[in-house]
Amino acid sequence: MTKVAVAGLGYWGPNLVRNFDELTELAWLVDLDPQLRERFGGRYPDARVTDDFDEVLADDDVDAVVVATPVPTHYALAKRALEAGKHVMVEKPPAMRRSEMDELVSLATEHDRVLMPGHLLLYHPGVVKLKELIDAGELGEVLCVYGNRQNLGIVRTNENALWSLGVHDLSVILYLLDEDPEVATAQGRDFLTPGVEDVVFCYLRFPSGKIAHMHLSWLDPHKMRRMTVVGREKMVVFDDMELERKVTVYEKSPWKRAETYGEWMTRSGDIYIPKISTDEPLRLECSYFLELIGGKHDKAKVARDGARVVRALEMLTNSLDG
Ligand SMILES: NC(=O)c1ccc[n+]([C@@H]2O[C@H](COP(=O)([O-])OP(=O)(O)OC[C@H]3O[C@@H](n4cnc5c(N)ncnc54)[C@H](O)[C@@H]3O)[C@@H](O)[C@H]2O)c1
Repeated sequence: MTKVAVAGLGYWGPNLVRNFDELTELAWLVDLDPQLRERFGGRYPDARVTDDFDEVLADDDVDAVVVATPVPTHYALAKRALEAGKHVMVEKPPAMRRSEMDELVSLATEHDRVLMPGHLLLYHPGVVKLKELIDAGELGEVLCVYGNRQNLGIVRTNENALWSLGVHDLSVILYLLDEDPEVATAQGRDFLTPGVEDVVFCYLRFPSGKIAHMHLSWLDPHKMRRMTVVGREKMVVFDDMELERKVTVYEKSPWKRAETYGEWMTRSGDIYIPKISTDEPLRLECSYFLELIGGKHDKAKVARDGARVVRALEMLTNSLDG
């Protein structure tokens, strides 16, 4: 059994702890906060508890480290864990700069270890269905993709909407289109906390000519977690707020009527809802990490895909700041 340590027991870490405890052997729990160490140490008595990350790295029995600490700490912790020969799953994004992420990818290659960014949505059965539909050519040529992620959760004061909300949609858009953007621009405003944008609009253009957009905001009447893909033959919507119709396929496409003067219309056909598994995306993500460690799947691709997200995030951030 793979022995896993989880660092960071704040808001998100406990979800990772629960899953790894159920899937494999939870060896260590790490947090700087003594109250959290006491609480989770009591809940998982078989795991050892510490505030010292190095103590975990020095334990030769530990195979993998999961990092769920605040974003600015990710790069340094992931780097130390890879250098110590551990497999690493690190919450999104693993680094705040492209150069740092490239360094992590090189370290993972050099030490032949897994470096998996926690891009949760890539393991969501609804997003996997979108990818299947695109790759099978069901939608025809994909023209554009846009994401809506609005009015969700606590308004963070130390992370803007691009970093907190946008990284999810960005990972999905890049995964679906499998291209690096040649243009990535963002505009936003800091209405609530000075210097921290709470409303951000992003535009991406890809070498193939496809375009994408993201609307990221904590200020909105609608609670939305939605991704729309427009193809020449069909269009599809993934809506994570829906319980029963997570993915809806629309047989709608542009169409030129021969009997008129050649203007474009929208052809409307059936609308259907494919069955989507209700498996917990985080469980699937944690299982995938363990499978990568076990030699399944392409670990180099997972790390490279993470680097692609950080590169695009850096382009968007430079544009937002500029
Ligand atoms: N995938 C998702 O949907 C999702 C959702 C929420 C958060 N996250 C990610 O999870 C990470 C943590 O977010 P959060 O909301 O849980 O933050 P949080 O502030 O609630 O918790 C972070 C914890 O890390 C601990 N910590 C800080 N530095 C440490 C160190 N050097 N060693 C050990 N522990 C340390 C803190 O004491 C704190 O308890 C972030 O990267 C965030 O982006 C992901």
